Amino acid sequence: MEKMILNYKEEELIGKIASVDTGTAIAFIPDDKKMSELQINQLIAVNSPRAGTHIIGMVVKMSRRLDETILQNDIDDKKNDDNVVLPSNAIKLVFVGELRDKEGIKVNVFKRNVTALPNIQSSCFRIDGDKLTKLMECISTIAANAVTPLSLGKYFIDENSTAYIDGDKLFQRHAAIVGSTGSGKSYCVAKLIEQMAELKSVNAVLFDIHGEYSDESFKRDGITQLKIAAPNDLETANKLDKGILMVPYWLLNYEEMQALLLDRSDSNAPNQAMQLSKQIMTAKKSIVKGTEYESKITLDSPIAYDLNAVLQELHKLDTAKEQGARGEKAGPFNGKLTRFNQRLENKMSDKRVGFMFSLTNEEQELDWLQKFCRQLMGTSKFNNGGIKVIDFSEVPSDILPLVIGLVARIIFSVQQWSAKEKRHPIALLCDEAHLYVEQNESIDAVSAIGLKSFERIAKEGRKYGVSLVIISQRPCEVNKTVLSQCNNFISLRLTNVEDQNTIKRLLPDNLGNIADNLALLDIGEAIVVGDATLLPSRIKVEEPKIKPQSNTVQFWQVWGKNDSTQDLDTAVENIIKQSKSE
Ligand SMILES: Nc1ncnc2c1ncn2[C@@H]1O[C@H](COP(=O)(O)OP(=O)(O)OP(=O)(O)O)[C@@H](O)[C@H]1O
Ligand SMILES: [Mg+2]
Repeated sequence: MEKMILNYKEEELIGKIASVDTGTAIAFIPDDKKMSELQINQLIAVNSPRAGTHIIGMVVKMSRRLDETILQNDIDDKKNDDNVVLPSNAIKLVFVGELRDKEGIKVNVFKRNVTALPNIQSSCFRIDGDKLTKLMECISTIAANAVTPLSLGKYFIDENSTAYIDGDKLFQRHAAIVGSTGSGKSYCVAKLIEQMAELKSVNAVLFDIHGEYSDESFKRDGITQLKIAAPNDLETANKLDKGILMVPYWLLNYEEMQALLLDRSDSNAPNQAMQLSKQIMTAKKSIVKGTEYESKITLDSPIAYDLNAVLQELHKLDTAKEQGARGEKAGPFNGKLTRFNQRLENKMSDKRVGFMFSLTNEEQELDWLQKFCRQLMGTSKFNNGGIKVIDFSEVPSDILPLVIGLVARIIFSVQQWSAKEKRHPIALLCDEAHLYVEQNESIDAVSAIGLKSFERIAKEGRKYGVSLVIISQRPCEVNKTVLSQCNNFISLRLTNVEDQNTIKRLLPDNLGNIADNLALLDIGEAIVVGDATLLPSRIKVEEPKIKPQSNTVQFWQVWGKNDSTQDLDTAVENIIKQSKSE
């Protein structure tokens, strides 16, 4: 039979509980030597009132309290040896779970909840050496029993024990990966993706804002690299097969179309909005005439309509004359749509947003959306499925939130309209989320509309099998609603106080102290808290095999070299072309 992990002898006792609160306790450690051997984050076993159970606590604070009488004695210089008052060493513990020696036929069972709090005078013991390794192993095996276990690296307090994470729980109720720039978020994401890619029918989309995950070094089976079409990709045929994504204007719903095209400060905005919706509806209806969709479509149905026809109609209305009582007079919309039409024309001819407005016939076909969704949400690893990394690096930043929000909305809608038993779960990994899932009272219409999709997914995604992984260097700038729905936090070093506070506020109360470490973590070290880990733990994230292109530039070393390799002329040409590709 397996041995109990935590069997202590009386002489191993380090102290006793002096005060208990619902999630924390204070213990006095009478022996100075034993006190000096303790560390912050050390695990302590406390006897539980339930037989065969040990409460596991983590040291979050240590202090030596000098009794007032001692100070007084020192000041008065009275030496009264008969009445020595010892200084009391105190440690504060946060309860993290309990270990039951036996449960049914199982031995050494770790539970995250504490069923009975310790009594005053309960004995405390250190968990170290062999006991620590065994405890960690025991915690890990729970996760390691999964078919393909997920792990980010090793525990900081015991570098021999692998820190497993529960892959189901991590995605079930959203996760956030945060940390200052260069702290190792992208590496952590790569480590995660590397393991996701091994699963047979993994389904995830990674929004890659800087093209960090989109080059040769980030290739393997199970990862498909896609990019939003740049100005010089627009003429390419069979774009989807080549991994080039268009995001046609006809996917925009009415609200998105308004946000993109309407200038609300224009006094004619209501007229313009009304005519736009009317003309779009007419155009959509003319496309589906005679098909099964005819009586079923709404203004928001994604039907490939002809925007040029809409523009022409709007022009007609803008210049229309009608017969009045005293000869010809201006029509009801005459001159009221001029500015709107100009805006629309500008957008349609703007090469930067060509991926939306410069469509070839292919992208106007009725079944294009099916192909698009197959590419975006396909799961077969060998058929362009698995993890889809979408490179948004050439999308203009002013409409980035709208475009990403649109892609997210389409994925969510597909899940929503799928039969429950056939739904396949999908995760959306949002790198640099503060750029498009913003917390800002005065955001413009375009950002607000993109944000809406993410708020919706954060609140309802769980039910439809859509998971969010928010990745950001500025958690305080990420939308609060979205962040507060995240139940798992992987926090790398966070130096900014505001960011630290944002994260601290979201952690359960009794874990507040753990977050005090955030500024002191090394590169690649993370504090992982949430339902996916049994113990809130400090983990050293392992270097991933596939690496994102995010190297920190070695200024001094590069400057010390003979020559520069930068090609200024090409860069300037790219600025003019507004595109990096050939
Ligand atoms: N776990 C790790 N092991 C070893 N090196 C690491 C680890 N994590 C990060 N690094 C180093 O730090 C560099 C920056 O890491 P990374 O690109 O992940 O930062 P980031 O947090 O994503 O920054 P940003 O917010 O600017 O995107 C990496 O290029 C790598 O050299
Ligand atoms: Mg990064």
